[in-house]
Amino acid sequence: MISKQQIDEIKYRNDIEDVISQYVTLKRAGSNTNGLCPFHSEKTPSFTVYKSSQSFYCFGCGAGGDVITFIMKAENLDYRDALEFLAKRAGITLLENERDKEEGVRRTRVLEMNREAAKFFHENLKNNPDALKYAASRGLDGATVKHFGIGYAPESFGALTDHMHKLGYTDEELKTAFLAGISQKTGRAYDYFRKRLMFPIINTSGEVIAFGGRITDNTKPKYINTSDTPAFKKSKNLFALNFARSYCAQEMILCEGYMDVVALHAAGFQNAVATLGTALTSEQARLLKKYTKRVIISYDSDEAGQAAADRAFTLLGEAGLETRILRMEGAKDPDEYIKKFGKEAFRKLIEGGVTRFDYKFDVIIKENDIATTEGRIKAASLAALEISKTPSNVEREIYINKAADKLKISADSLKRDVNKIISSRSRKNQKEQTQKIILDTQGYADRVNPDRIKNLKANSAEEMILGIMLRFHEYITGVNSGKFNLSADDFVSEFSKRVFVAITEGAEDFDIGMLNEKFTEAEMARIVKMQIAREGLTVSDKIFADSIDTLKDAGKKETLSIADIINKKRNQFNNKS
Ligand code: GTP
Ligand code: MN
Repeated sequence: MISKQQIDEIKYRNDIEDVISQYVTLKRAGSNTNGLCPFHSEKTPSFTVYKSSQSFYCFGCGAGGDVITFIMKAENLDYRDALEFLAKRAGITLLENERDKEEGVRRTRVLEMNREAAKFFHENLKNNPDALKYAASRGLDGATVKHFGIGYAPESFGALTDHMHKLGYTDEELKTAFLAGISQKTGRAYDYFRKRLMFPIINTSGEVIAFGGRITDNTKPKYINTSDTPAFKKSKNLFALNFARSYCAQEMILCEGYMDVVALHAAGFQNAVATLGTALTSEQARLLKKYTKRVIISYDSDEAGQAAADRAFTLLGEAGLETRILRMEGAKDPDEYIKKFGKEAFRKLIEGGVTRFDYKFDVIIKENDIATTEGRIKAASLAALEISKTPSNVEREIYINKAADKLKISADSLKRDVNKIISSRSRKNQKEQTQKIILDTQGYADRVNPDRIKNLKANSAEEMILGIMLRFHEYITGVNSGKFNLSADDFVSEFSKRVFVAITEGAEDFDIGMLNEKFTEAEMARIVKMQIAREGLTVSDKIFADSIDTLKDAGKKETLSIADIINKKRNQFNNKS
């Protein structure tokens, strides 16, 4: 934890309007400002910045928080790094306290272990003829092995563990680094990675943060990847970004597999990266956005790969990246394609990368016989559906003309079909939105505070109390000094209780920024919502004390289980109809 004074100083020197206006064009609206939300796509502004309480809230997507939360989201940083980012912005040097130092030591220790392990694996590969043979059979030449620091984890259970023990690392530490497991039977450490070709994952600072290990025979699992450790978060890193970052200003190639990336780099495509054994995350999409303008999705050509590409398309688009997809035929993945057809052929493939629509339209044409009337009708309706998913008007226009031309139908009628789909979808969305709001206000589907529905009256009192304390800090002091008779046990919902404890324990002099560490993004947004709902409210001791009485009163009433409530609602509904 960074001290309260330092957080204060950081927030004081980073006014929320100043910071956010570097990301969002803000327009004044009374004492607040608003603009287009950077966290979801929208055409009318629902993103509001409250200068007086130094917070933001988006009524469209529910994102909210203080300047620290904003930077965590916008720059894809964790709490600690966001503080550092803002400190740097304001020219403040952070002093570490004891616990921070401990965390730092753990991280450093894991990084040291990884470096030692990478060296060990690399040496082992050089001295193991079978492993070398496997590497060669996969087309990995000496230069590539050296460049990526590829290694080999021996087949025995104790090779790495013994080596690391000699260097002074304990079983517990090896486990923390995800290099070893502890056997239930013997209580001793054993190597996680065995008989595997090892790909070190290196971050942009040159640190070995994790490994991907591919088995060298046909047993399962084919890959083992490091899980999250104090030095590594799978969902926020990419394989080979350390190399690719210098070659990717214009575009980046996104692959599924380590082997694909290695083969691409060896063939001169040094702008290739891969996810780390999981589907692309929104954090990774935002990370890509920091380095490049355009992403070429180069996934496996099988059905699973194409389904994954479809999801990646959506995430990359949301991150604001221009996205293309490769049309790859005659090979299952980029690795195989390059080996079969050579790098020039792959370059052509990249140049021929198409938009999502072109890609889908090709499939539509292939799967429907457009020489027949029936086939053309079917193809036109599928194309209309696909075109309707394109957000840009200009792009839609281009696709409509293209499809109409190919299917020999009039662009006008295709356009009418597309518009019909769009407006019926927006009607449906509106209906769903309304339904969602009704459910939300009744407290159903409330993931942040599932208890809310059980006692709505108590909960609105809780929100009033917490909102006042968050907005007017003298009420925190009032509660802490016993001026008001309120304790954690008076709260009915677990969530409110946690917020109350976090506000009242901690530092005597509270700041909402400190909650970023203890609460998730969704919880943080809810907390800020409670706070801003009290914006402009005239608060008096009487109002606060009355809210406490209301809470205590309502809290005494028997609470219903969720099942009871749903049954009750259902009965009401059935009686009506
Ligand atoms: P080769 O089959 O050796 O060419 O490797 P590849 O990199 O082409 O792998 P594949 O296309 O089968 O899978 C793509 C990526 O998914 C891999 O690079 C891994 O990151 C991940 N992956 C594949 N199999 C497994 C598995 O069994 N477990 C885990 N955790 N990840 C896997
Ligand atoms: Mn492969």
